[in-house]
Amino acid sequence: MQEILQRYEDLPGCIMNTGARRIFFVHGRSLEKFRDFRDCLDTLEGIELVDFTDFTPNPKLEDAEKAAGLAGSCGLILAVGGGSAIDTAKYARLKNPGLPFVAIPTTAGSGSEATRFAVLYKDGKKLSVTDDIMIPDAVVLDARFLKYLPEYHRKSSALDAFCHSLESFWSVNANDESRKYSSKALSEITAMLEGWPSTYDAGRMLMASYTAGKAINIAQTTAGHAMCYKITGLFGTAHGHSAAMCCRVLFGWLCKHSNLPLLRDIASSMSCSSPEEAAEKFSGIFSRMSLEIPRASWNDIEELSSSVNPERLKNFPVNLDHETITALYREILKVS
Ligand SMILES: [Fe+2]
Repeated sequence: MQEILQRYEDLPGCIMNTGARRIFFVHGRSLEKFRDFRDCLDTLEGIELVDFTDFTPNPKLEDAEKAAGLAGSCGLILAVGGGSAIDTAKYARLKNPGLPFVAIPTTAGSGSEATRFAVLYKDGKKLSVTDDIMIPDAVVLDARFLKYLPEYHRKSSALDAFCHSLESFWSVNANDESRKYSSKALSEITAMLEGWPSTYDAGRMLMASYTAGKAINIAQTTAGHAMCYKITGLFGTAHGHSAAMCCRVLFGWLCKHSNLPLLRDIASSMSCSSPEEAAEKFSGIFSRMSLEIPRASWNDIEELSSSVNPERLKNFPVNLDHETITALYREILKVS
């Protein structure tokens, strides 16, 4: 059972309770902006912080190995940051399973703080690591950490959380528990995205993104995520932006090509009377966010269609063949 703290001022007490005296502290450069938080940690008597900042945005396995080696001499792992910091720390915990692990997200979208998954890169290739031991023992969901999130990343991470709740909802791995999380997150996130930006609330989004993370921890993501990674690779769009482009088209496609009863549950979580209306609502939300849709060549479409992650694709409730995937990509991107 994960402990949730909503104020970082409660963290020192939580750390002292573990008896740890050396903290392996994984964080990015953005931490410099959170001087009050650093001051709060520095007031801990008899505690030594071992800073680790030696990792890149798409964290390399070798850096995570280095982190795991250094963490061995510490009594607790603390990660503050986006997916990269948390995933690096997750690997350190995997190799040091006895160490307590606390994660503090500084974006509201990945849900990484709630999952058993970490994404690392070996020789430029994506490596997915999965283990329950990587789920943090405690998380701090404090909206103040989102204060400096740039507007584009605020949008894309909110859309990422939306896609997690939607995809986990229709995933073939979903169960009663995951659907409960999916439904709650989907209804919260839809309400916040509908009147963007005035309806956005950082604290509420952090909690919803965490709940969506709990849903994907059980049900995983599906075709939207399977199809989005290469879009980011080719066009440099943020992960949540790419995932939303794919989910928008997949949602409409699924309404047309299946009559799965769960689509009605998705619609009602989004306060809509039909799946078609819900798909339309998400499409409208995406359009109003004014995010660019990249222009793709025919070669790009072919490259995208050939590089879809087959593992995640299997979680989609309808089988998608190569021809269908190509047609979907043509709808997702502007083709020139
Ligand atoms: Fe995602």
